[in-house]
Amino acid sequence: MSFDFDTVPDRRETDSLKWARYRGRDVIPMWVADMDFLSPPAVVEALRTRVEHGIFGYATVPSELVQVVVARMREKYGWEIEPSWLVWLPGAVPGLNLACRAYGEPGDEVVTFTPVYPPFLTAPPQSGRTLRTIPLRREGGRYTFDAERCAREISARAKVLLLCNPHNPVGRRYERAELERIANLCVARDLVLCSDELHCDLILDGGPHVPIATLGPEVADRTITLMAPSKTFNVPGLNCAFAIIANPELRAKFKKAREGIVPSVNALGFTACLAAYRDGEPWRLALIDYLRGNRDLVQRFIRDEVEGLSMDDVQATYLAWIDARRLNRDKPALFFERFGVAPYDGRDFGATGFVRLNFACPRDLLRTGLARLRQAVRSVGSEAQALP
Ligand SMILES: Cc1ncc(COP(=O)(O)O)c(C=O)c1O
Repeated sequence: MSFDFDTVPDRRETDSLKWARYRGRDVIPMWVADMDFLSPPAVVEALRTRVEHGIFGYATVPSELVQVVVARMREKYGWEIEPSWLVWLPGAVPGLNLACRAYGEPGDEVVTFTPVYPPFLTAPPQSGRTLRTIPLRREGGRYTFDAERCAREISARAKVLLLCNPHNPVGRRYERAELERIANLCVARDLVLCSDELHCDLILDGGPHVPIATLGPEVADRTITLMAPSKTFNVPGLNCAFAIIANPELRAKFKKAREGIVPSVNALGFTACLAAYRDGEPWRLALIDYLRGNRDLVQRFIRDEVEGLSMDDVQATYLAWIDARRLNRDKPALFFERFGVAPYDGRDFGATGFVRLNFACPRDLLRTGLARLRQAVRSVGSEAQALP
């Protein structure tokens, strides 16, 4: 089966969050994490059928979807989950916030590793918790978790660790050994572990994704795993995600924190999720192939053609984490915007001088975006090269 990722409809006048920010300007939006690709035909078809039914009352989760998720965990990860462990949510971000609110007390610490997707940084204070950030350490040309710093800096008030696995924005697919060290930390410090695994179906290279809860019963018992079809099948605007929580006590507290605040998932979200997981695999495989090509293009371009920028390998996600510190700009994303390309500024992720570039778009558009990045860097020219 072949799918066309090169031809996409114009999104400019569609009230897309990504494109509306630059309405009327010649700026290519490469910031927020949604893809400039059509969703899989199977998803579009299922939604069309559901819409034609014409009644959009409150929805309940389709029993087939529960079976599909249970089978998916078994087939992909050898993970035997019970249907009762699933808690459906209108997004992963509500899941992060619920995890902060459901465990411990106001004033307790929530730990996360930076740089990280901004809601990891805002969920703890929004929930009356104190944020404790531990920077990822660079080792062997990649970012990894810093066990020593965790041992030193995590206080006795820490109750929850928010983990991003795979890690947005640094594009890491964590290896089993790294995850084991993170799990050991959580056991040793008695932390509830909320693992956001939204990018788990976007592994571009190397071994498979490892859900941290599959490492053993002790870690499973303290873990909330967040997953969704949103990133992979390009349905983030349809608001369907789920938490997998094996421990009944943690699950009850999580559900309690949700009451009356978090809306339930809507019929179109469930419909898209079912179609994506049940029928979307051939499309997903083609997507991964296309994204690998884009990723290779970005890496080659940044490393070989743009003096002044650098990046690590992207193992997972469709996001490149680019070090632009040599440009000596507080907000490099704003600077790039002036040249017609809009990545996400690293400041929002806890790292000044970096940008995150979303490369999930038709290759021609990507080439234009990269050329604009290069033009911006060249405009700095000798000034950038003189910097350390
Ligand atoms: C790691 C991660 N978690 C959560 C989200 C957003 O989740 P949702 O839209 O389901 O709330 C994103 C979006 O980019 C993400 O990268």
